[in-house]
Amino acid sequence: MSTRALLVGATGTIGSAVAAALRAEAVEVVSAARSGADESVDLSDPGDVRAMLARVGTVDAIVSCAGAARFVPLLDATDEDWSFSLANKLMGQINLVRFGAANVRDGGSITLTTGVLAERPMPGSSIISTVNAGLQGFVRSAGLELTALRVNAVSPGWVAETLSAMGKDPSAGIPAAQVAQAYVRAMSTVVGGEIVPAHP
Ligand SMILES: NC(=O)c1ccc[n+]([C@@H]2O[C@H](COP(=O)([O-])OP(=O)(O)OC[C@H]3O[C@@H](n4cnc5c(N)ncnc54)[C@H](OP(=O)(O)O)[C@@H]3O)[C@@H](O)[C@H]2O)c1
Repeated sequence: MSTRALLVGATGTIGSAVAAALRAEAVEVVSAARSGADESVDLSDPGDVRAMLARVGTVDAIVSCAGAARFVPLLDATDEDWSFSLANKLMGQINLVRFGAANVRDGGSITLTTGVLAERPMPGSSIISTVNAGLQGFVRSAGLELTALRVNAVSPGWVAETLSAMGKDPSAGIPAAQVAQAYVRAMSTVVGGEIVPAHP
């Protein structure tokens, strides 16, 4: 397990559970989000991502539990819905790898977040399913090419706390603490290019 990790999206539902799981493993967590974290960053702004990485310096691991993409019926989705989602969850996380690989010590890891809607789309998920599938293709390819570190992604299904917040039955989801263990597994795997499922 790494000793110093940059965790983007550390204040969110999944990210706060990942932060707790890493701290339980004695990992020093440098938290990042747009606000309320050690480092302020907007993942959708490449200059902002570069500046944060320069401030943070060398780490054993980068983990992203951030990245927004919009759930909109296909024919209602605007150009802005697509460009927002592509710049945020897709390119934001890809840029963490492009710019962040040099910050990670040899043998370290970068772990991104995709999602089950890549494989199991539903009406309204066309943007998210595209972004998640794009991330999975990127991770498989980056995992082959970047041999000094391991690039992987976790694919969560519905999180119980998220379903609760939406007024839905949380028993259909997985507790965030359990999802967080998939990130710990992804960071510990010996290979890169893996999509680690955190769904049934
Ligand atoms: N929850 C689920 O059921 C579920 C299921 C499948 C996949 N996922 C995926 O898991 C990831 C995290 O989901 P979540 O439910 O934990 O989200 P969340 O509770 O909304 O938390 C998102 C985190 O990311 C940060 N963030 C948001 N926009 C950002 C930006 N532009 N730049 C930097 N940080 C940003 C937020 O802090 P600030 O707002 O302060 O920036 C927060 O720390 C997302 O990619 C989501 O698609 C979630």
